[in-house]
Amino acid sequence: MSRRLLLGLSGSLRRGSVSTAILKSLASAVSDRAELRIHPLGDLPLYNGDEDGEHAPESVAALKAAIADAEGVVVASPEYNYGISGVLKNAIDWASRPAYASVLKGKPVLIISSSPGLTGGVRAQAQARQTFAATLSRVIAHPEVVITEVYQKVVEGALVDETALAFTTAALDALLAEIALLAEAEPEAALA
Ligand code: FNR
Repeated sequence: MSRRLLLGLSGSLRRGSVSTAILKSLASAVSDRAELRIHPLGDLPLYNGDEDGEHAPESVAALKAAIADAEGVVVASPEYNYGISGVLKNAIDWASRPAYASVLKGKPVLIISSSPGLTGGVRAQAQARQTFAATLSRVIAHPEVVITEVYQKVVEGALVDETALAFTTAALDALLAEIALLAEAEPEAALA
């Protein structure tokens, strides 16, 4: 079977971001079965309905095209004040239009949250699930991937904690299984 194409979205723009590091480590862990491309979100302007639609900014069109091309989306979010980061929410808002008919509709999605604390960003995770529900995307049925005490588990830009990496990789394999299931059910849609 050919490698699946996945899109990674990090909710943090920080150079030393653990969210981005988690995505990069996952990309390496599954490179034999999927290509996980991280799409930068830093160029997106703040959502403005006046600029949305046919003449949306280039960065918005690029984000939408990348989501449309990917067979699944992997989101890694920090928790900011008990919610997802503004960077991530802004990206989802742009990608979610037109409402109920956007590139996110029906798209398999895996959500990962992390935090240096003991909660692993679980509140942001809950909020992300709710937000993706509004886009009619298909957040996979899997126990939540939350990575607690992440500063001990990500070292020099890599997720080195074996238990966390194994759990997160298993979730990504669940995403790939969901994509395979969908391709079986809708072979034409999977090729489109
Ligand atoms: C945080 N942080 C944080 N952590 C947490 O567990 N719960 C929270 O509510 C918050 N709130 C919060 C707000 C703001 C504005 C910042 C900047 C940070 C800490 C956060 O988890 C930590 O900075 C992560 O390392 C951010 O992820 P990246 O940037 O490393 O991917």
